[in-house]
Amino acid sequence: MIIDHLGIATRQIEEALGFWREALGLELVETEEVSEQRVRVAMLPVGESRIELLEPTSEDSPIAKFLEKRGPGIHHIAVRVDDIHLALARLKEQGARLIDEKPRTGAGGSLIAFVHPSSTNGVLLELVEQTTVHPHGKDK
Ligand code: CO
Repeated sequence: MIIDHLGIATRQIEEALGFWREALGLELVETEEVSEQRVRVAMLPVGESRIELLEPTSEDSPIAKFLEKRGPGIHHIAVRVDDIHLALARLKEQGARLIDEKPRTGAGGSLIAFVHPSSTNGVLLELVEQTTVHPHGKDK
């Protein structure tokens, strides 16, 4: 298991890139809109992991609500798992509080699911399974 990425809530990706890309020197590999979560996402690799900059695309975006309450900052930590269905089943069996009982589509066509901070010492946790095939063909 590795840290797939750290999700950082920003008001504007363009502005955040002034630090993460220009000042720190990370490379921006892709920007994508994930309409299901009403966010724009920019991915900047750091070793085998990534910084994920998140910008809300609508007022009812979970990121917009986060910014309103807490301002910009770390929104979630994501770990990469081989089999997200297996990971979710195990967490459920262990009594973890799941936000997503079933995986949904994340950035880059990955499968993702969130675990509630009340089960993780206060950190919103995202599970990510990187898929190479089209996600809708793999949904169970
Ligand atoms: Co994420």
